[in-house]
Amino acid sequence: MPKGMQVLLLRHWTYVNHAVPEAYQNARSKFQGDSVAILEGGQLYNQHCTSCHGANGLGNGIAGKSFMPSPALLSYMIKQPISADEYLLWAIADGGVQFQTSMPAFKDKLARDEIWKVIAYMRAGFSKKKAK
Ligand code: HEC
Repeated sequence: MPKGMQVLLLRHWTYVNHAVPEAYQNARSKFQGDSVAILEGGQLYNQHCTSCHGANGLGNGIAGKSFMPSPALLSYMIKQPISADEYLLWAIADGGVQFQTSMPAFKDKLARDEIWKVIAYMRAGFSKKKAK
């Protein structure tokens, strides 16, 4: 199995078999479907995430090309059952340090509400200018 796949599974495995750290347990997403928050989340996403994950979450950002594992295919994973609120918050806030990946930790860069806005944006389907 490619190392990148192993690392992604390790993150998922840790979540399924253990729990997210206490600070994130049962955290509930805010701003779901709130159009102003989604707009702000989009600006934050473009500023902090596009370089690696790509504008539409396809994992094809310029900066992410050389990473192993490569940036997650967020547009896909956001629709999977694993994408619980607490899981996304944990992945984004703590990043990949513990799994030795290039996913940065955002807990010191973004307020928790800002992370929820980014999540609302991703759940709303990313950029509205998506190529059809
Ligand atoms: C420097 C490149 C980089 C930036 C910037 C970045 N990421 Fe990532 N991200 C990665 C990589 C590489 C992975 C895959 C490895 C991992 O899961 O740790 C990843 C994984 C993830 C995952 C976990 C996916 C899963 O299936 O478990 C989420 C969620 C995520 N990123 C969201 C974001 C969000 C939201 C932002 C912006 C706030 C962001 N990332 C910014 C590189 C980046």
